[in-house]
Amino acid sequence: MKILLTGGAGFIGSAVIRHVIDDTWHSVVNVDKLTYAGNLASLGEVSDSSRYAFEQVDICDADALRGVFERHRPDAVMHLAAESHVDRSIHGPADFIQTNLVGTGVLLEVARSYFETLTEEGRQAFRFHHVSTDEVYGDLEGPGGLFTESTPYAPSSPYSASKAGSDHLVRAWHRTFGLPVLVTNCSNNYGPYHFPEKLIPLMILNARAGKPLPVYGDGSQVRDWLYVEDHARALITVLESGVIGETYNIGGHNEHRNLDVVERICALLEELAPEHPVGVASYADLITYVKDRPGHDLRYAIDAGKISRELGWQPRETFDSGLRKTVQWYLENESWIEGVTSGSYREWTTHHYGSN
Ligand code: NAD
Ligand code: DAU
Repeated sequence: MKILLTGGAGFIGSAVIRHVIDDTWHSVVNVDKLTYAGNLASLGEVSDSSRYAFEQVDICDADALRGVFERHRPDAVMHLAAESHVDRSIHGPADFIQTNLVGTGVLLEVARSYFETLTEEGRQAFRFHHVSTDEVYGDLEGPGGLFTESTPYAPSSPYSASKAGSDHLVRAWHRTFGLPVLVTNCSNNYGPYHFPEKLIPLMILNARAGKPLPVYGDGSQVRDWLYVEDHARALITVLESGVIGETYNIGGHNEHRNLDVVERICALLEELAPEHPVGVASYADLITYVKDRPGHDLRYAIDAGKISRELGWQPRETFDSGLRKTVQWYLENESWIEGVTSGSYREWTTHHYGSN
């Protein structure tokens, strides 16, 4: 299969590309605009492969996208390109509406025109796989309950509302135009190459720099964590074997309160990086409670029973093993970190957290 994958320079997209090149015989065309979150250094290990190609294109640019489809003639689309950070969507929703909604609409239209040029055999094989989030379901109150594929949509943030809208567009293109789509909704990912605006890498880097570890509110919010390589395997499993028109929820069965996650990171750092920054007696002393995120969702948790029963996918990492690997990776990959924590990253952290 030749997969046209959008957002391949991002956190999850780059993990999917590494998995495709290292563990399958598929080829991949990475279509990425290279926003602040896109980083080709995350693909260094695989970018020389003859099964990999890169096109720097904005998914909102229909002409450029048409050119990519014509040049590469893909067998499938896997769509990950998005603005992905909830806090940024609160500071500035416009880019989220543009890429996540308008961009998905443009990609669907270009893919549909291309699909109509395919032979009968090509149409039978073609798939449009839309990669989405559990945040479209809103939040769960209290400790019980799980998101299933039939949980009603109730997004809370500009980010999750734009993703919910993109899911609706994809399903409408299936029902109205017969585009053979697949949709996946996944929980919080973590692992190597994660941009350090998100909770886990932010806490690792701040702790190593002796900076405050900013916990929103009282830190009691719960997320269901999945190691990114488990997500990458799940996505290729769905692309290869999923039933057209179906949705699959993906999650790690790893629910943890934010404060507990931060404390575990501190404990791992005590073990793996015992030399503290100057003036810091213990990493946990850096934990600082800050103003809560507006509209903050309390709890997410995924029922991943369908993908497990029907397609045989299971996560391989536990939270303990995945978090240890992740902390170790950030301790060993300073040059990648330096490359992404440039001027624009510092502008964001100053803007959002203040000058500390
Ligand atoms: P990311 O922010 O790390 O990467 C996004 C990528 O998309 C970047 O490489 C960026 O350059 C590219 N991009 C952004 N706008 C673009 C545009 N207009 N045209 C082309 N490329 C563009 O995101 P991520 O965390 O890797 O998430 C990937 C996808 O998975 C998103 O659709 C997100 O909603 C979804 N998702 C993420 C998580 C998570 O925990 N990170 C969980 C579930 C679902
Ligand atoms: O659930 C899937 C979603 O997970 C994806 O769709 C999003 O793209 C991805 O960014 C992630 O969203 P979250 O908002 O859950 O992730 P984030 O890492 O931003 O925050 C995780 C939790 O930690 C959340 O409850 C907010 C809290 N938090 C986050 C930051 C950045 C803090 O307490 N302090 C922080 O500084």
